[in-house]
Amino acid sequence: MNQSYIPKVAFLISGNGSNLQTFIDARGMHLIEAEYVCTISNNPDAPGLQKAVDANIPTEVVDHREFPSREAFDAKLASTLDKYKPDLIILAGFMRVLTPDIVNAYSGKMLNIHPSVLPNYPGLNTHQRAIDAGDSYGGATVHFVTPELDGGPPVVHVKVPIREGDDADKLAKRVFEQENLIYPLAVRWFLSGKLSMHNNRAWLFGRPLPPNGHPFKYIAID
Ligand code: GRF
Repeated sequence: MNQSYIPKVAFLISGNGSNLQTFIDARGMHLIEAEYVCTISNNPDAPGLQKAVDANIPTEVVDHREFPSREAFDAKLASTLDKYKPDLIILAGFMRVLTPDIVNAYSGKMLNIHPSVLPNYPGLNTHQRAIDAGDSYGGATVHFVTPELDGGPPVVHVKVPIREGDDADKLAKRVFEQENLIYPLAVRWFLSGKLSMHNNRAWLFGRPLPPNGHPFKYIAID
């Protein structure tokens, strides 16, 4: 991307939009220089839609319940995204599994954050599963989106210690503090042209990243 081009970023949300708020704040601090072209929610009642409105980001609702199949929903989602010509799509608490057609159409241009150190615990209830397994850490991973659920090439991950007496909510809060650090970092790398996906691997500064992404050093915030 040339120096004067302002990249266009789209967000997909389903719920609170707490990751979306992270990016609104990061842009406010000039950590991220981008045009936030739209926020699309599959859930008309997602509180995150108001966060977008408050930040003057156009909103769209594509309600999955109005479509007969995942493919039909994704086709509408893709045509809605296409209107905005995004350079990057940020999944920010988007709770629908995407079909290969839309993922492949935006291959290398979609990032997600997943609340575990992948490949551990793809899917839901990650914090509870880590606690139940007696793990010493939970965490989060930013990864490129591919058709495999939570299986795309990792970009950066952070391990967050599980403490005595933790429940899923306490751990989720501690992990989320770290999500606020690693997700904007990955997006900055991408928007500055340093991060890309080739051959199902994430590359940073012209080198392939380790299989579970760059390790981000845990910094305790509380
Ligand atoms: C975050 O914990 C993230 O890891 C997961 O969704 C959560 C944020 O949801 N993908 P929301 O933005 O508050 O809806």
